[in-house]
Amino acid sequence: MALQRKLIPLSNSLALINAAQIVTLAGAARPRTGAEMSELAIVADGGLLVRDSLIQYVGTSKYVESQIDQNCSVVDVGGRVILPGFIDAHTHPVFAGTRVDEFEERSRGTTYQEIAARGGGIQSTVNKTRAASIDELFEAGRRYADWFLRSGTTTVEAKSGYGLSVEDEIKILRTIRRLDEQTPLRYVPTFLGAHSIPTEYKSRRDDYVSLIIDEMLPLVAAEKLAEYCDVFCEENVFSTDESWKILSSARCHGMGLRMHADQLSLSGGAKLAAELGTVTADHLEYTNTDGIIALKSAGVQPVLLPGSVYALGSSHYPAAREMIDAGLAVVLATDFNPGSSPSPSMSMIHSLAVTHMKMSPAEAITASTINAAYSLNRGHQIGSLEQKKIADLAIYDCDDYRELSYFFGVVHTWQVYAGGRLVWS
Ligand code: NIG
Ligand code: FE
Repeated sequence: MALQRKLIPLSNSLALINAAQIVTLAGAARPRTGAEMSELAIVADGGLLVRDSLIQYVGTSKYVESQIDQNCSVVDVGGRVILPGFIDAHTHPVFAGTRVDEFEERSRGTTYQEIAARGGGIQSTVNKTRAASIDELFEAGRRYADWFLRSGTTTVEAKSGYGLSVEDEIKILRTIRRLDEQTPLRYVPTFLGAHSIPTEYKSRRDDYVSLIIDEMLPLVAAEKLAEYCDVFCEENVFSTDESWKILSSARCHGMGLRMHADQLSLSGGAKLAAELGTVTADHLEYTNTDGIIALKSAGVQPVLLPGSVYALGSSHYPAAREMIDAGLAVVLATDFNPGSSPSPSMSMIHSLAVTHMKMSPAEAITASTINAAYSLNRGHQIGSLEQKKIADLAIYDCDDYRELSYFFGVVHTWQVYAGGRLVWS
């Protein structure tokens, strides 16, 4: 739905020529598993034709050059590398303020959980976000949209969750809708009213769960503000029983289900995700072999978020290798948020995945393009560079795609296109 609105017809067609590599990800029209995650379908000396926002042809540069007519804008990419726009399937991109003070405090040894327990952490961002107007949230969100685009990301899944009241959750979801309409970045909205129990409900948590089920979900559904519902299922946050109630109710409203599961402890999140048949189970740092088997048999896609492991100073990365070997269609995402993962950079995530989770650079690309697209029900439109798909792509200033994760901390993007339109250069 959101994607269709952004198909701005181009009067002229666009030809990209002289790419050292076009990493197409062409292949079966489904999420990739096992050895398929390493198959990138790279075209060497490639060219690509776009017409009316859609990819018309991908092949040799020579052929594309032979198709150029006077209506066609031509970009000689000068031996660089073209990839599909990254699809970041787990972000929290609408919030007010920062948590730089807590960041510094953690450098002195206080833990994320200790800060949360004394009313900081998520709650401190909630306080600031409640005090912000929709215009202020939009301006902050626009700054981050720009960061995503310049990192080569053209679609993000965007969660609410820093409002935690009926009015403030709606305010965030409406901000996400406005960002989708007014920036070149594509947003897939997720309702995360179950991100934390807000301070005023601490002594009556059942009432907060009822507020989500009886008031928030019906309003979100009526205004069609979210495609998915997510819950932070964790010890001292939402129990598996509470998560079950909230997600079951969201399903009755027609929403797809996602879950923050087993992030800080083995709390039964992955098992519950499998039982409910959610679309994704996210984080999974503490998920064990039983959980992995359960996810596999239920067809749940794991969304792994090494940025939050890194930024929390932990070394407890999720078992990506075991998941890939078990045949799960692994997704990688940034978890961009002001607390546990303040980075929009997918190439940084790739660096962490390769170095600490022993994924190959190719697997990391598959996990953040085609597999991510399928986890958002968009696999037929984006996630690979194939005929009739939307021309969302990024051109990188290197001649081998592996340099993206190898030279870490470098912005490699040269140009970024969304729907065939230049959105960052
Ligand atoms: O995915 N786990 C819960 N939510 C976020 C953190 C949000 C925050 O610290 O503000 C996460 O890591
Ligand atoms: Fe998250």
